[in-house]
Amino acid sequence: MDNKKTVKVGIIGCGMITQTRHAPEYADNPNAEIYGLYDADPERLNKFTALYDCRGYSTPESLINDPNIDAISVCSPNYTHAKYTIMALKAGKDVLCEKPIALDLNDSREMMKVSEETGRILMIGHNQRLLPTHRRSKEILDSGAIGRILTLQSNFKHSGPENWSANRSNTTWFFDKSRAKFGALGDLGSHKFDIIRYLLGDEVAKVNATTMTLDKRYPDGSFIDVEDNAMVLFRMASGIPGIMNVSWTNYGEEDNSTIIYGDKGVMKIFGDYTDDIVLEMRDGSTVKYAVGKIQTNTRQTKSGIIDEFIASIIEKRPPLITGRDGHNTLATIVACFNSASKGKWVDVEY
Ligand SMILES: NC(=O)c1ccc[n+]([C@@H]2O[C@H](COP(=O)([O-])OP(=O)(O)OC[C@H]3O[C@@H](n4cnc5c(N)ncnc54)[C@H](O)[C@@H]3O)[C@@H](O)[C@H]2O)c1
Repeated sequence: MDNKKTVKVGIIGCGMITQTRHAPEYADNPNAEIYGLYDADPERLNKFTALYDCRGYSTPESLINDPNIDAISVCSPNYTHAKYTIMALKAGKDVLCEKPIALDLNDSREMMKVSEETGRILMIGHNQRLLPTHRRSKEILDSGAIGRILTLQSNFKHSGPENWSANRSNTTWFFDKSRAKFGALGDLGSHKFDIIRYLLGDEVAKVNATTMTLDKRYPDGSFIDVEDNAMVLFRMASGIPGIMNVSWTNYGEEDNSTIIYGDKGVMKIFGDYTDDIVLEMRDGSTVKYAVGKIQTNTRQTKSGIIDEFIASIIEKRPPLITGRDGHNTLATIVACFNSASKGKWVDVEY
């Protein structure tokens, strides 16, 4: 895309993340045009090409190789991310790939390498760090308001992807290890590890994780073959210890909270849904910030991920969330599975 004001976009996958975020946010961006779509389900493809008045492609290759398309959103199941992204980068497109970046670290390394070789943007859909509340929290932390950070606790818990996916049933690909590889840890933990990395400006050095499948079953009554819960103890490179808990079996209100404990006070981010950020200071005072409500599966607000992707293309600069962010987050998730299978602390290998 050289010196053009309108970025023509192709989207692969017309499921929920496209329907709630990518497509409406591209449609809302004055510098973007949804040029074409591909989905493995022809009926869903037809529905959304009609809705967005754009072209439908019969194969992902034909969309990726269309010279009219400048940029691609990869919004299909996890096992397709690396393949479509590498194909698109090699075809000269800038790519916004959904999280998790890939199924394994060799693939994410290859994605970063091809992005560098082709000079094309690789951005990963860790949209939570663009939320005004997380950005404001980062500013407050960096200002030293709660002092030296001692520990951190982060949760992401909802009722599970069978209540979200375009295929709203227990046959969703999210429950199929061959297509998802990871369960709640890859789905929700990848958001939270990215946020932890962002807020602390640090990398995870070691983890001690437990994964389990407690409640989700296939239609035949057997347990799904990915984890529906995970609990992770971790230590940052700086030494800060923390705990992260992700769950697909929270049948109450969605929990996307992070609590950071400093030597001058405590910062609660989305600790409740009344206040976005609350500082509880060591002297007993409280400071509350109203910044912007958290998105939940049932309350979608503009994520800003598309505006940032399009701006980075037009301004010819790296996006705020890079392939490296996706890779380092995936490395932490992979380490969690190594730890869970060995039953001990393991180092994160980047
Ligand atoms: N950033 C976020 O907050 C967030 C939230 C949800 C999902 N996601 C990610 O987005 C991706 C898609 O998730 P979703 O929730 O939209 O899933 P979904 O089940 O709602 O939709 C998936 C879509 O992909 C299509 N599809 C299946 N196989 C395909 C293939 N080989 N090629 C092209 N299309 C194919 C399906 O027909 C379906 O329309 C996943 O990687 C998921 O992790 C990100």
